[in-house]
Amino acid sequence: MLAKTYSYGINGLDSYPITIEVDVSNGLPATIIVGLPDSAVKESKERVRTAIKNSGYKYEPRRITVNLSPADIKKEGPSFDLAIALGCLAASKQIDLNCLDDYAVLGELSLDGHVKPVKGTLPIALSMADRFKGLILPAENALEASVARNTNIYPVKTLNEVVNLLSSPERLQPFTANIDSLFAQANHYDVDFSDVKGQAFVKRGMEVAAAGNHHILLIGPPGCGKSMLAKRFPTILPDMTLAEALETTKIHSVMGLLRKKGGIVATRPFRSPHHTTSAAAIVGGCSNPRPGEVTLSHNGVLFLDELPEFNRDVLESLRQPLEDHKVTISRANKSVIFPSRIILICSMNPCNCGFLSDPRKNCNCSQAQIQRYLSKISGPLLDRIDIHLEVPALLSNELLSPKKEEPSHSIKERIVKARSVQQERFESEKVTYNAYMTPSQIKAFCYVDQEGKRMLKMAIEELGLSARAYDKVLKLSRTIADLDNEQNILAEHIAEAIQYRSLDRNWWG
Ligand SMILES: Nc1ncnc2c1ncn2[C@@H]1O[C@H](COP(=O)(O)OP(=O)(O)OP(=O)(O)O)[C@@H](O)[C@H]1O
Ligand SMILES: [Mg+2]
Repeated sequence: MLAKTYSYGINGLDSYPITIEVDVSNGLPATIIVGLPDSAVKESKERVRTAIKNSGYKYEPRRITVNLSPADIKKEGPSFDLAIALGCLAASKQIDLNCLDDYAVLGELSLDGHVKPVKGTLPIALSMADRFKGLILPAENALEASVARNTNIYPVKTLNEVVNLLSSPERLQPFTANIDSLFAQANHYDVDFSDVKGQAFVKRGMEVAAAGNHHILLIGPPGCGKSMLAKRFPTILPDMTLAEALETTKIHSVMGLLRKKGGIVATRPFRSPHHTTSAAAIVGGCSNPRPGEVTLSHNGVLFLDELPEFNRDVLESLRQPLEDHKVTISRANKSVIFPSRIILICSMNPCNCGFLSDPRKNCNCSQAQIQRYLSKISGPLLDRIDIHLEVPALLSNELLSPKKEEPSHSIKERIVKARSVQQERFESEKVTYNAYMTPSQIKAFCYVDQEGKRMLKMAIEELGLSARAYDKVLKLSRTIADLDNEQNILAEHIAEAIQYRSLDRNWWG
């Protein structure tokens, strides 16, 4: 006999419906799964067989054929186990359910018949709409799928529970969560900018970066607080909107990272991959493309600590996502696009030993060693980083000072204001932040007065500012003027912006 059940697969960040056909017929005992299964799907026959037996049913010693349709898309992962098991029970007439057509089913089975959590339930719930009466899924995924508010969610714990519920579907109770309170609860950071003593110049630079969405390079001796500052950066970014939270949550759902985060990502992600991470893990990859770190930090911060230690190919692979705010990954049979709207923070020492810029310690590196160390960062990558901040070693009196530092929430207020100025300015444009302005937009929106022009000319001629730095200075000046709520860019804004490009001159000039 033939039975049909329904489930969903994941392609990139989107889902697609899958029909699972199970046929039990006479023949030599064997279970065959067709429809481009990967090895996790192929292994599901062993899990399904044992789970069925251990749940008190019989696994027929006959020829069982399972077809996952559409048959031309590669199926991945163990999430079809539960739907296959229900199909096997229905096809072998051990259960008689009329409502199998009404529900989509997701879940991995353990050998004792328990239903284990799977990846990607949020994009699946988001795409379901009215096609089914609801989604039956592992209890541990209920919270993340309910965030979609798009379909009925029915959490289950065991195979037996699913069979019992489907035998009398009027007993099915949809799971609901209060998304607004979930969102409010999860919106909390454990760190704060007030933890960082001194470093007023660096903090101001980070404020400018947060206001205009500029990327940052922090350069300084060991222990000066680069990592500490970077970790606190998300706390001064404006709160995530629900739409942004859903975009980011969807990505984390596909990667199975949500269970510890209470169903929704409500704080801006801060990802800090180790410098041995491969290019595929940073930008995304695999034969069935998965999001990489640049996508996992979408709407948040990607922090590359010890930048020169990263492989050259990793750094070069960042160029497209930084330019386009998305990553396109093409494989022989498909191409997927992952979003990547991030602020990149890089940190590095100025030389191999790290003490070149530390007045209290001697640097042992030769000029050639320093050059070799710095040349690991290519010009085109440096070109995409608007703000270069030299982080000085902290003096003992600053460290011991009882002075209270400004907390994140009060810095954030200024940033929210500056961003609303940008929102108004770019209302009819495609870009959203000053950092994303095109050359023609720079021309249109960055009017500089005579005094400012004179200062720019001096910077180019006397400070040796490169042509590439020129546009950056204008964009940065625009952001600084927005923080000041000034319509026009003034000379003082240009002067501050030039300071954030000084590394061009000091280290790479
Ligand atoms: N401005 C500061 N205020 C308070 N504590 C600080 C400050 N700067 C550094 N520290 C202390 O020093 C520790 C080391 O700082 P951090 O790890 O950020 O240095 P780093 O610049 O990243 O060094 P490295 O180059 O070795 O990675 C911090 O955990 C913190 O305890
Ligand atoms: Mg560090």
